[in-house]
Amino acid sequence: MFAARRALISNTIKDVFTRRLKHSLPDLPYDYRALEPIISAEIMELHHSKHHATYVNNLNAAEEKLQEAVAKGDVNTQIALSPAIKFNGGGHLNHSIFWCNLSPNSGNPDAALANQISKDFGSIEEMKKRLSETTVAIQGSGWGWLGYDPKTKSLRIATCANQDPLHATTGLVPLFGIDVWEHAYYLQYKNVRPSYVQAIFDIVNWQDVNARFKNATGC
Ligand SMILES: [Fe+2]
Repeated sequence: MFAARRALISNTIKDVFTRRLKHSLPDLPYDYRALEPIISAEIMELHHSKHHATYVNNLNAAEEKLQEAVAKGDVNTQIALSPAIKFNGGGHLNHSIFWCNLSPNSGNPDAALANQISKDFGSIEEMKKRLSETTVAIQGSGWGWLGYDPKTKSLRIATCANQDPLHATTGLVPLFGIDVWEHAYYLQYKNVRPSYVQAIFDIVNWQDVNARFKNATGC
């Protein structure tokens, strides 16, 4: 009787712990059609409900296995799981930023961000040009980023391969990211990545980028 009750309590605690650690697919802050004609509803629906959802599901599965491995003291399995956690965790983090980085109501950089862009790149147009060129040139799948370097207190352009997350791999704070996996544009732009990258600047959610910059600089 006692043993059964103890097992029930133990399982309940385990369930609560496991549930708390589960990641979930965030809702888009707009409709799938909202970014047309720059990004089609078909791409947005597949990208969000299939691709991002898969990263979330695979991250949860990998973390569950990691919990079991940690509980057993199985270090080999813990190490073997790290690529899956990096890939799927990165995919979840990157896409969660990406959806918020975009909006049908684009806006402009605020004064603080505009000043920093001018200081580090000369002008907003020059920053866009350099971010576009760098992002278009990524070999294979990856992300182009405008990030903030807390060490030098300056903006930087960087690229990450696959789903490597910017902050964990470079130390830069992500402000604006461009997904150049083919799933992000191929159905609409085919092989013409430069047209997709150029068009995405028309749907930058500058309010979101301003807020991320403010948060990164702490002012
Ligand atoms: Fe993607």
